[in-house]
Amino acid sequence: MAKSKMFGKDVVTTQELSVEEIENILALAVKMKANRYGEPYNSLLAFKTFIMFFYNPSLRTRQSFEAAATELGGHAQFIEPKAMRLKSVKKGVEVAGETIHDAAKVMARFAVGIGIRILETSVDNYGDGNKILREYAKYADVPIINMADDIYHPCQGLADVMGMREHNNNKPTKGKTLVQTWAKGALARSYCSVHESLLLNSRLGVNVKLAYPDDNYALPENIVEQAKKNAKASGGTFEIVKGDPKAAYEGADYVYSRNWFGKDFYEIGKEAEIKRASSDKYKDWICDEDKMKTANPGAKFIHPMPVDEDAEVTREVNRGPRSIVLDIAENRLHVQKAIMALTMSDKL
Ligand code: CP
Repeated sequence: MAKSKMFGKDVVTTQELSVEEIENILALAVKMKANRYGEPYNSLLAFKTFIMFFYNPSLRTRQSFEAAATELGGHAQFIEPKAMRLKSVKKGVEVAGETIHDAAKVMARFAVGIGIRILETSVDNYGDGNKILREYAKYADVPIINMADDIYHPCQGLADVMGMREHNNNKPTKGKTLVQTWAKGALARSYCSVHESLLLNSRLGVNVKLAYPDDNYALPENIVEQAKKNAKASGGTFEIVKGDPKAAYEGADYVYSRNWFGKDFYEIGKEAEIKRASSDKYKDWICDEDKMKTANPGAKFIHPMPVDEDAEVTREVNRGPRSIVLDIAENRLHVQKAIMALTMSDKL
């Protein structure tokens, strides 16, 4: 029996992993995808339980983690805060209950790892979801895996990169260009997938162009500053293109068109954000064939899903030959199996 060097490690964001750890996860995910149900992978977590703790809903994350536990020979247990009696604060009101200290320590007695999803709609302020997740990580004696919080989504970022490489002749994407563009839409999306993509791709030497219509849709300064530092260290570039929905597409190898809410979201709320992001002012902020023609020939459309079709991207592009969104969605399973094996299995 052996453990990887990552055994016992929390995965909160790829920014807190070394490049070697990131490459190890991706390399194992590729092997697991090629040998999905076979030995030795199908028993790495035999008889072990992984807890999936969801404050917010999900399609891909829940199903891919549950399938991952099964395919590693273990079991995934789904829980929600409403099924527990946790101490909490919502809209400034304290609800009495069990502390995170006790809940984390008890859950760690049952499971080899705990995944947590906690997005902006479950907390009062930007960053509070990440703080709560880190509090679980502080007290749990098993790895905490971030299944998307209000800042980061490491599993999504890794699945994106795995898909981008698959569609680059299975080669690293250093030197390729990614356009990360804001899009209109009616879903008032979280920052987490976009942040993770910016941080991870800039770390891996991808040239990143971040596009958005106006300063209200600028991303938090510390994330942008970190992405710039990453690009400098990796030999990539980082550029911001403001105000023109098409300008950033020139030279793109990958286009990631995704809505995210404005800076004032926590004050104005979801309904007002959706009304604004769906207004005529932003009608051209959609990824379509015309804009994709400006990108490099063979450029791919990427997105973490769920897609707001005909708002973030046209149906033609989303379902067309340029789209690799389904491969990326499938890769959630493979990267999560790799993360679980590396952090939780004693049989590697
Ligand atoms: N991309 C992603 O995390 O999807 P879900 O919200 O459906 O889990």
